Amino acid sequence: MISPTNLLSLKRAGFAGTALAGAGLLALVVGLIIGGGAAVQELADAGDVVRWGLPIAKMVMNFSMAISVGALIFAAFSLAQQNPLLAKAQVISSIAAAVWALSGALNFLFTYLSVAGVGISTSESFTNSLWLFATQIELGQSLAINVLAALILNTLVIAIRSLTATALLAALGLASFIPLALIGHAAGNENHGMAVNSIGVHLVAVTIWVGGLFTLFLLRGRDAAEASVLAKRYSSLALVAFVLVAVSGIGSASTRIPDLASLNSDYGLLLIFKVILLAVLGAAGAFYRSKLIARLAQGADRAKAFWSLVLVEFAIMGAAIGLATALARTASPTDGQPIGDVTPAQLLTGSPLPPELTPIRFLTEWKPDLIWLIVAVGAIVMYLAGVRRLAKRGDKWPIGRTVSWITGMLVLIYTTSGALNAYQEYLFSIHMIGHMILAMGIPVLLVPGAPVTLLMRAAEKRQDESRGVREWVLWAVHTKYARFVANPLVAAVLFASSLVTFYYTPLFAWATREHIGHEWMVAHFLITGYLFAQALIGVDPGPVRLAYPLRLLMLIGTMAFHAFFGLSLMDGSGLLLAEWYGAMGRTWGEAPLDDQHTGGAIAWGIGELPTAALTIIVSIQWFKADGREAKRLDRASDRNGNQDIDAYNEMLAKLAARKDQR
Ligand code: HEM
Repeated sequence: MISPTNLLSLKRAGFAGTALAGAGLLALVVGLIIGGGAAVQELADAGDVVRWGLPIAKMVMNFSMAISVGALIFAAFSLAQQNPLLAKAQVISSIAAAVWALSGALNFLFTYLSVAGVGISTSESFTNSLWLFATQIELGQSLAINVLAALILNTLVIAIRSLTATALLAALGLASFIPLALIGHAAGNENHGMAVNSIGVHLVAVTIWVGGLFTLFLLRGRDAAEASVLAKRYSSLALVAFVLVAVSGIGSASTRIPDLASLNSDYGLLLIFKVILLAVLGAAGAFYRSKLIARLAQGADRAKAFWSLVLVEFAIMGAAIGLATALARTASPTDGQPIGDVTPAQLLTGSPLPPELTPIRFLTEWKPDLIWLIVAVGAIVMYLAGVRRLAKRGDKWPIGRTVSWITGMLVLIYTTSGALNAYQEYLFSIHMIGHMILAMGIPVLLVPGAPVTLLMRAAEKRQDESRGVREWVLWAVHTKYARFVANPLVAAVLFASSLVTFYYTPLFAWATREHIGHEWMVAHFLITGYLFAQALIGVDPGPVRLAYPLRLLMLIGTMAFHAFFGLSLMDGSGLLLAEWYGAMGRTWGEAPLDDQHTGGAIAWGIGELPTAALTIIVSIQWFKADGREAKRLDRASDRNGNQDIDAYNEMLAKLAARKDQR
């Protein structure tokens, strides 16, 4: 039955949808005309319907994907489990997922027709080719997986009720962007990693921003006070999304626009339009953050200006997405450049061999990894914001913790974006330095920063059963899974076994050849190293605290395993991943097997430094804990009038007397 509130939601959806889609369509058509994205193909043209239908389907898919996943993110971050608006947000997500599945299927079909340059047909050979496209070709597989994710979301989202399941489905939705990022416009470029990361982050940020606003606009809150709270929560999400859209947009553009002169192209022109639209959106966001949100709590009349501005924002966002979709169909200045003689390094990594690694190049060569750059800078900014908040309240936070955290994050930036990242594909020894720093060096710096304790103290506790960053982190560290992997013994086993499992199984090849594998590897080494260091020297509370002697034993045992692994590499006569490191065509540096031996020495030698640091920290903690325990016993003894000492002396006296009697 359609109730008046449902009617109201439908009306609002109509307004928001018209603003988004209307402006989007207009911008798309203008963008396609400027950039030639729908021009007749010289070879095998699939016809007008496909040339125009493909970008339109893609744009609708971009909108609906953002709304479907964005609604879940907004709900997980803003609503309490028992709030009836949660179910409404799930319905919004489910309907958007249905549109996403439909437009995604059309996008899949039109992409096939466009690539194959054929018309649609009901013949068996056509169906077979389409099936082949979906199952054997990366482009088709990625689009098909995306449609599948939409169908899963469409059905599951209305079957669930809990906030946790809402967040997990949001994570599934976000994960479905990975295949899209892998086949993005510039994914075949020299800088594959930056192209994939930047478009992935761009899609995530656009989703949070556009989908969140759409959901806020439809739900609004049950009264003025709730509207104001929800708008404030959205506004925090939007601020993060805004920064991420700008950073990833520029990162993405950098892979297609090699120099400023290239901005003077159709592609460059469309990009400039997008930058202008982002600037306008940023100004609108700043205005409603500083002026209008406060008025929402004062009732419907005062809120009108806010919701009208949101409608204008929809139109601008729609135009940005329309232009973006046209941009993805426009030839960029780096497309179709003559390739020349392809070297073995280019065949394997996509990029030419870098110059010889000399000591100075450890400082001058950089290959930014946008994801870890964002993670590290974000972690530093949030940490400092937390420390500032404590300081304002007059609470103390040890400076050593802050210094340790920031140093750890700076080392993370160097390891993932500096010379180690630039050379790790070509030299096993450099890969091994990176591995050791990720698994042992960085965690030893990050763990003493006590980030969870800081978050718990600095972030405000939500009062309405909804979950902000503080509550979600608290939830995550208390899950059974987190408690299991954080158990000191499990953490030690994971840490030690990762070495052998990684290098002597296909995981190493996957992490070397595939960008997604590389990112997984960085996350895995960092997390397992963090858990191990946390079990040994953690300031943050953990599920089980081992006695200090056991901690030292665990450290020695794990490190012996590490040294054994290093030695086996130093001695080994077989080249690991020979078809990669042995086929790179390197004209400088050590021969691949010698380089692998150096890698083994590094695994053995570098591991000793963090081990020494860990041993010293554990010993100091042990010493301090002993001191504290002694003081505690002294105080207890003072409180009971030294009864324990008197009793002890009495017992000694009795023993002595017994001896005398004998
Ligand atoms: C500084 C501002 C921005 C820059 C430099 C930028 C840059 C880019 C670039 C280079 C691409 C890849 C296009 C291609 O595949 O060739 C892209 C894609 C995209 N952008 Fe942006 N962008 C900006 C702002 C925005 C905004 C404000 C939105 C929406 C609110 C947006 C939404 C999108 C979407 C949805 C895509 C994916 C398009 C597709 O593959 O169909 N961008 N952007």
